[in-house]
Amino acid sequence: MNPNSVAVFDSGLGGLTVLHALRARLPHEDYFYFADTRFLPYGDRSEAFIRERGLRIAEALAERGAKALVIACNTATAAAAEAIRAAAALPIVALEPGVKPAAALTRSGVIGVLATTRTLDSSRFQRLVTDHAGPHRVLAQACPGLAEAIETHGPDSPPVERLLDAFVAPLADAGADVVVLGCTHYPWVAGMIAARLPAGVTLLDTGEAVARQLERRLSAAGLLGGGAGQLRVASSGAPAQVAATVARLWGTKLPVEHWEP
Ligand code: DGL
Repeated sequence: MNPNSVAVFDSGLGGLTVLHALRARLPHEDYFYFADTRFLPYGDRSEAFIRERGLRIAEALAERGAKALVIACNTATAAAAEAIRAAAALPIVALEPGVKPAAALTRSGVIGVLATTRTLDSSRFQRLVTDHAGPHRVLAQACPGLAEAIETHGPDSPPVERLLDAFVAPLADAGADVVVLGCTHYPWVAGMIAARLPAGVTLLDTGEAVARQLERRLSAAGLLGGGAGQLRVASSGAPAQVAATVARLWGTKLPVEHWEP
């Protein structure tokens, strides 16, 4: 990694949707993106496993010289952000499902949240709903298998279509008028989700808010700028396979190096 890069990590390639927003807002930073595809999906793993893994990744990225860390994964945030913040000396930006903005936007009073099982089961998510949903009803829809299917088969594929049919219908039936994309993989299929909802339903994704937060944190720490807009991608999985998925999702070919934290 170039020294002073912003490190970004996810269980896989969902965090590229966040990276896209980071690069749009802060194009002159250097980025090191780590996809922990060897352990994808985090959503079906235990909280303890994700916490340990997250700590190890954060420590290794700091050792490699990262100047800030973006946890571009709702599941890893729910399980590991507190522990990582307590252990790491660098600025940490994490993300969580946008329940708070959803509560400000809903008119029907029904908010849908699509996320992994692990995120929705976490005490952090329960707290988010208690503190920020107000009087509104929150329909938390777990989407087991979806992140994996997006990576394995591609967004526009029959397995993803089938999973979305099952996961989105309950939100449409309940009258949700705001749907929170509570997993960073789901913006890849935002159009397919919208197609299963009535016209006018708002989809909320947190990429831009994370980019603004990163800008604030870098600026407060005197760390803003100084890069050349470079991007390096690494994965704990098989580089050739990951590179093919990156090309499909990101739209351009990027070299992928193997890295084990
Ligand atoms: N992209 C991750 C998130 O935002 C989770 C995908 C997974 O289950 O690994 O929650």
